[in-house]
Amino acid sequence: MELLVNIDHIATLRNARDEGVPDPVHGARVSEEAGAAGIVFHLREDRRHIRDADAWRLKETVTGTLVFEMAATDEMIAICTRMKPQVATLVPESRQERTTEGGLPMARVFDDYRDRVVPRFREAGIPISLFVNPDPHDIERAARLGVEAVELHTGTYAQAVTETDRQRELDRLREAAVSAHQAGLIVNAGHGLDFSNIRPFLAEVPYLHDISIGHALITDALWNGLAHSVRRMADILAKARAFHP
Ligand code: PXP
Repeated sequence: MELLVNIDHIATLRNARDEGVPDPVHGARVSEEAGAAGIVFHLREDRRHIRDADAWRLKETVTGTLVFEMAATDEMIAICTRMKPQVATLVPESRQERTTEGGLPMARVFDDYRDRVVPRFREAGIPISLFVNPDPHDIERAARLGVEAVELHTGTYAQAVTETDRQRELDRLREAAVSAHQAGLIVNAGHGLDFSNIRPFLAEVPYLHDISIGHALITDALWNGLAHSVRRMADILAKARAFHP
């Protein structure tokens, strides 16, 4: 089981000023040096965080697994099949959402994926991971499409408030992981995982391959890094005070 770091939020911060920093590619390098097995980026239709130039630089520099997360539009498929990352993770995307809100509506997209989407990745030799809800019917549909992997949507588990709801979501995730494994699919997972909900998840859900985490890592980095940074700058000011009238 390996950790893949989603670096989209570094680009969100960079874009707030558009002055080049913080650079998501630098974030990818730091993450890999710290033990991440790979990097995930989501190139959205509206380019709200990662931009095309970031994606190509990541392709040049990431040494581990590079996962291109995307909606299966013709535009994205064209970029992805040219770039040839190790994996393409296909997700639903709507302009209004703040983040990916759920797994693919598998019943609705099945025919389009079978006829238009999957063949184009096959031709390019890029393995597909489908972001799906932990639903046995959706797992079965993914298997019938002949893709390599599913990424189980852990967001509902992460957002569960009561213990009953949390346990029900863990049960659904465990059952989905077992059926995906039995169907020959690689089992990935992600969305909303953090330092408090990861352990129960790992304890209950088997056959996990890649775990993709973004938001919680960037948040934790802030709280672990901010005090250090403020101390560093305050120290510079304190030393300079000696020379100021
Ligand atoms: N997996 C998928 C398919 C996602 O869309 C996201 C969010 O971009 C993640 C994993 C990571 O989720 P989070 O940022 O909540 O850790």
